[in-house]
Amino acid sequence: MASAIFPAGLLDALRQAGRVVFLTGSGVSAESGVPTFRDALTGLWARFRPEELATPEAFQRDPQLVWDWYRERRRQVAAVLPNPAHYAIAALEARLPETLLVTQNVDGLHRRAGSADAVEFHGNLFSNRCRACDHVAPQPDPELAAPPPCPLCGALMGPGVVWFGEAIPALALERAWRAAGEADIILAIGTSGLVTPAAALPDVARQGGALVVEVNLHPTPLSAQADFVMTGPAALTLPALAAAL
Ligand code: OAD
Repeated sequence: MASAIFPAGLLDALRQAGRVVFLTGSGVSAESGVPTFRDALTGLWARFRPEELATPEAFQRDPQLVWDWYRERRRQVAAVLPNPAHYAIAALEARLPETLLVTQNVDGLHRRAGSADAVEFHGNLFSNRCRACDHVAPQPDPELAAPPPCPLCGALMGPGVVWFGEAIPALALERAWRAAGEADIILAIGTSGLVTPAAALPDVARQGGALVVEVNLHPTPLSAQADFVMTGPAALTLPALAAAL
């Protein structure tokens, strides 16, 4: 079965790889019921304007509007479960020698599936971050009705996610870049490859000599540089890959 569905050479390459990076995007959580960003009709950015909701300026202008939108997303994510793709990635991480999972997702589903050390490149919905002093605090209650004051400086805390125009957390950036540069294989799973700097990671890895594997429902700008492309839903493809290895 494996040879019928996997591109020739992929399983051997993975078996021989010493260092593996997984880069995931919202497509990994799609089958849990979490909307992606750019899929036509169902993607969040097809229905909402990011500049009104996901920028520091938007929060400054109308903190309650932004808070309400993120509260709705927290609720949505708190009500769903990790899917077989999340569990398969956690199983692969445990099985392969040296791995790093870098996720652009803020939903925390990788952690809930057992990926304890995931690099959350764009932050996490269940935390808050103060834009005045950068203090980060957990935000476990998805129902909190209004942005809380920062315990350190008193400014309103916004959701602990990276907004347009904001920098990636330094430690996340450093870990992801170093791992990609040293990787033997990078798998880009369920991401459109349109948002930098995350979208540059496969190229960083390729320039360091890594093979690039893409798992997606559709072709993306990453497809042309991929050594292996697996077209299909992550929740089917990843468990099949984990089972075949
Ligand atoms: P996008 O919405 O841009 O892309 C989702 C990708 O997942 C697309 O390429 C889909 O074809 C693919 N996809 C959808 N369902 C899938 C499935 N079941 N199996 C496999 N692939 C599937 O989402 P991201 O690439 O994650 O940033 O977007 C990157 C960033 O843009 C997000 O982290 C977010 C957004 O603005 C921030 O919030 C900072």
